[in-house]
Amino acid sequence: MPRVPTLEATYEAPPNIALVKYWGVRDRARAIPFNSSISVTLDRLRSRTCVRFDPTLATDRVTLNGATATGGPRESVVRFLDRVRTLAHVPYGADVQSENNFPTASGLASSASGFAALAGAATAALDLKLSGRELSKLARFGSGSAARSVFGGIVEWRAGILPDGSDCYARPLFGPDYWPALVDLVVVVRGAPVKSVRSEDAMQTTVATSPTYARRLAELPRRTHKIRAAIRARDPRRLFPLIMEECDSFREVCETTRPSLDYLTTTSRALIGEVRSLNREAGRPVAAYTHDAGAHLHVFTLTKDVPRVRRRLGKLPGVERTAVLHPGPGGRRVA
Ligand code: PMV
Repeated sequence: MPRVPTLEATYEAPPNIALVKYWGVRDRARAIPFNSSISVTLDRLRSRTCVRFDPTLATDRVTLNGATATGGPRESVVRFLDRVRTLAHVPYGADVQSENNFPTASGLASSASGFAALAGAATAALDLKLSGRELSKLARFGSGSAARSVFGGIVEWRAGILPDGSDCYARPLFGPDYWPALVDLVVVVRGAPVKSVRSEDAMQTTVATSPTYARRLAELPRRTHKIRAAIRARDPRRLFPLIMEECDSFREVCETTRPSLDYLTTTSRALIGEVRSLNREAGRPVAAYTHDAGAHLHVFTLTKDVPRVRRRLGKLPGVERTAVLHPGPGGRRVA
């Protein structure tokens, strides 16, 4: 009997938190960003996605966290699957089941882990055998930050310089074990609003309307270089102020976008103030805050300072919980 291929695979991918933010697309059709970005891939959190291509399915069925996806979220999955179908010359519909073990669309980067997992599962189901670099190139079409979630540790997504985007992909800079004392204390805030505008649209409004965007772009190569060097030296005194400087720059272009983009809550702002006070009082950078397009805070610190930082931040009103995360491994096939 001929072997019937199962056309099914399950893939897990982690979220990442950017230290140098991706915010702005130079070429939308080719998904090429204006600037290179750097992130930390996080352990413990993950999206787990099963894709089964089925010749009897006329349309794609997409289930996200147990609920049937409709509208925009479904459309972006279908568009991504179309790209994979074209690559593999396969016309079949697919059944997609994806779940996150953390809150969706709230600043914990579910689009990064979600599209990295979808890219891994869909290409494995069709036996495409992509390298990590090829998978990263593909994943960025689902969500830019997904290009980085393919890899573990500290990851750089290079914008590249070629007009066709062939040098636009992520690569690991330092493995998950490079700096074991580095901790991301995630501070989950109560009542974090669910994003009303998708990041890929919001960032293009920033490009078009923020008067400070050009200055940010001009500053980025130097800041990115310094961040890379500070990580290489495992030097919190250099790295932590740079993480905050970059986060403030990202927040500034968001706030000066018209209409203004404000992702933070009162609690998020209080947390930022508290990290600044803590550093001032200690006379050294004990911790560094950053956030994505959401209200939760990621506070980088060292293992030895976690109790002190956690005590201080965890007691602020509006903080739901804190979680200690470390750099972790990248995406992988699990079935
Ligand atoms: O990948 P997207 O389209 O969800 O955009 C990510 C944007 C930020 O999270 C704010 C920055 C980043 O580099 O992850």
